[in-house]
Amino acid sequence: MTILTSPQAKPKLPDGSKTPPVIIMIQALIDQFGTLEKAQQKYGDIFYTPKSALLPPYVIFSDPQAIEKVFTADPNLFEVEKQSSLPVRVLLGDNSLVLLDGISHQQHRKLLVPPFHGERMKSYGQTMVDVTKEVIAQWQIGQTICIRDYTQEISLKVILRTVFGLNEGEKFDRLKQILIDYLDIFNSPLKSFFLFFPFLQKNLGALTPWGKFLKQKQVIKEILQTEIDRRRNNPETLGEDILSLMLSVRDEDGKPMRDDEIRDELMTMLFAGHETTASSLAWAFYWLHYLPEVGQKLRSELSSLDNDTDYNTIIKLPYLNAVISETLRIHPVVVFLSRYLKAPFELMGYTFEPGTNLFPCIYLTHRREDIYPEPKKFKPERFLERQFSPYEYIPFGGGHRRCLGYAFALFEMKLVLATILSQVKLELLDNRPLKPLRRGFTFTPATGVKMKVTAIKN
Ligand code: HEM
Repeated sequence: MTILTSPQAKPKLPDGSKTPPVIIMIQALIDQFGTLEKAQQKYGDIFYTPKSALLPPYVIFSDPQAIEKVFTADPNLFEVEKQSSLPVRVLLGDNSLVLLDGISHQQHRKLLVPPFHGERMKSYGQTMVDVTKEVIAQWQIGQTICIRDYTQEISLKVILRTVFGLNEGEKFDRLKQILIDYLDIFNSPLKSFFLFFPFLQKNLGALTPWGKFLKQKQVIKEILQTEIDRRRNNPETLGEDILSLMLSVRDEDGKPMRDDEIRDELMTMLFAGHETTASSLAWAFYWLHYLPEVGQKLRSELSSLDNDTDYNTIIKLPYLNAVISETLRIHPVVVFLSRYLKAPFELMGYTFEPGTNLFPCIYLTHRREDIYPEPKKFKPERFLERQFSPYEYIPFGGGHRRCLGYAFALFEMKLVLATILSQVKLELLDNRPLKPLRRGFTFTPATGVKMKVTAIKN
């Protein structure tokens, strides 16, 4: 007897590499983008990896319709997965917004969204410009600089002032330096292994990477706690910053946020709010100088500005917006989003069981030839010629977990670029193509972008 099967019938799960998942993970840690591109060439817009000792089953996809389905689904279908979120838990703490789900996620977002949007966010514009001017005041004509060091200094100072209300001073400098050292522990693919493999997370003394990490984590915790205590005991020190807001807020039962909740949210803001912006800005400087015609076009748009131009005008400049959009398209600092299923979910003709991790892939979506012709080329014009849907262009994710700081980050990037390009002339020291390098969870330009200061406007 012949069994008839429909030629259209899809297999139960998408195809995917037969390589053991732990090897795929190592390959991805060493060469994330190459691994993804090869998998996409072989398996197409969706591919699946079965469960392993390290990770639950997961599926990577880059189809905008599938992404729309995930972003518009009921948030209660998803939760934060314990195993693959371990590195974030270790870095930021259990109470970080990134790790909350359900009602507590909703409540914390409700509290934290307002300061990062609208008028409140715009009131930070002056701080962003002041900090940028302070940082470039250190530069001299002829000096060689690594631009990422300075974009990091700017974004860290901005976040310390706006979130923490901390200005210059000993406390400010100490926290700034210790945060830089903390994040530098994972500044290469090899060192990032410590975050992703729990068996490496052994405290073998302060000289070993994990021991050093735990020690610094403890110091940061103590600094944050001291600051929380100081503010709680001296209500007159409460101001407009986000820490003050967290200390003043009460839930429906009149209860304040606990210290450990505040500490972990502070860590989240300090971490999520500066590494990402610093790397994206460094990429923007690279492209503006690697392609001089792009830099020239932006400079001529900025030449209409003067000291009195208000920030609202700057953030609406079309070419500035296009340059930043294209930077975040071609170099998303975060490669995947994660949505862990609590219930069966249908996607692209497959049904995924609870316990599967859905990974919408920002990188592959942004490199789709059908949406972005010549995807490997840096072409800001594409953002002037067409509007992309929130499922085709996703540098900040989407749906109920969309990046809390996206408006703040865009505002800051525009003001920093406009301020520096209007005052300083820079030259790229190495004209070879630049590769992204893993730094823990995010990616950054490999050499940090070496430049020479060639002119400064007084
Ligand atoms: C260029 C800069 C930035 C990029 C590319 C970026 C990217 C992202 C991405 C891709 C996500 C995950 C979204 C999702 O799962 O759908 C995210 C989440 C988040 N981001 Fe950003 N981010 C940036 C800047 C910031 C800033 C400035 C802050 C705040 C100070 C921030 C705070 C957060 C927080 C708290 C979350 C977790 C949101 C949640 O789970 O509800 N980010 N970001």
